[in-house]
Amino acid sequence: MGDAHDSSRGRDDKAKGGGWKREEAGEGVARGQPRDASRATHKDGDTDSPPLPSAALSCRFAECCREEQRLNASALKLELEEKLFGQHLATEVILKALTGFKNNKNPKKPLTLSLHGWAGTGKNFVSQIVAENLHSKGLKSNFVHLFVSTLHFPHEQHIKLYQDQLQGWIRGNVSACASSVFIFDEMDKLHPGVIDAIKPFLDYYEQVDGVSYRKAIFMFLSNAGGDLITKTALDFWRAGRKREDIQLKDLEPVLSVGVFNNKHSGLWRSGLIDRNLIDYFIPFLPLEYRHVKMCVRAEMRARGSAVDEDIVTRVAEEMTFFPKGEKIYSDKGCKTVQSRLDFH
Ligand SMILES: Nc1ncnc2c1ncn2[C@@H]1O[C@H](COP(=O)(O)OP(=O)(O)O)[C@@H](O)[C@H]1O
Ligand SMILES: [Mg+2]
Repeated sequence: MGDAHDSSRGRDDKAKGGGWKREEAGEGVARGQPRDASRATHKDGDTDSPPLPSAALSCRFAECCREEQRLNASALKLELEEKLFGQHLATEVILKALTGFKNNKNPKKPLTLSLHGWAGTGKNFVSQIVAENLHSKGLKSNFVHLFVSTLHFPHEQHIKLYQDQLQGWIRGNVSACASSVFIFDEMDKLHPGVIDAIKPFLDYYEQVDGVSYRKAIFMFLSNAGGDLITKTALDFWRAGRKREDIQLKDLEPVLSVGVFNNKHSGLWRSGLIDRNLIDYFIPFLPLEYRHVKMCVRAEMRARGSAVDEDIVTRVAEEMTFFPKGEKIYSDKGCKTVQSRLDFH
């Protein structure tokens, strides 16, 4: 974060550490104003833009915000069903949440999703897919913002500063593009209180200081609640019931209460939960041996190689599984599959 004063850095650099705080770093940009005016003037139908052949054409050269763009729900469904393994609940809820929200011309509040589950179960993977379906450049889009707690909010003594910076950053970006997407990764490592700074933006206000946040999307990712999800999955397994029979109602209430009461969830006693500002708690189930194998196959295909079942088995068998006795779930989900595959 030490390079916040380097004005040569672009906004896209924020995920690499620091670029996102430029608004507060004294660049003379008024609060609530889009900082990159050129971006704002390229919006569809903006009369201030220089004469261009057509808005559609201009959007081929500069990324457009396309606030009113409909979501291609069937494309998203297909992509999730094809690429996301073993997460029937996450697939279902994400589809429902996004289609409902994007089809609503007048949402009363921004969409807030809280994704929970063990490491390597697909939370970041899904947020990338979601981001790409909303803004085609995905995480590289100027309208998609990824915050990583340990990178952007590392010091406990700076909570107040982070709160101010976060408010300024979100306000500036939502002014520039109402359908901005904000992803907060590693919520469980976020100091309690930081996230409450954005509470007013997530609430049912028409506007806050002249800015409407109602078309924005916030996604919170955390490992918190992973233990509760695993316990439920294990109960089903031990009772001989199918994983796919686990329903949202088996998990959602446990999750919201568990996360609220967990000091290390980033949402500990958070006003966001208290005031029901989180629209969906989305559970990611722990991945089994068969899912790990699916990840290995997917990775092989992505690398353009033929799927070799011997290698698939070998990579999957190198992973460690829990609980100790039954060894059902992969400790790291599919996380280390890519690097392990390099050795085969
Ligand atoms: N459920 C899943 N289906 C398909 N691939 C997955 C799944 N979970 C993890 N992966 C693979 O493992 C990688 C790491 O997972 P990631 O999404 O970063 O996990 P986390 O839940 O910790 O955010 C992903 O980039 C993806 O390639
Ligand atoms: Mg992650």
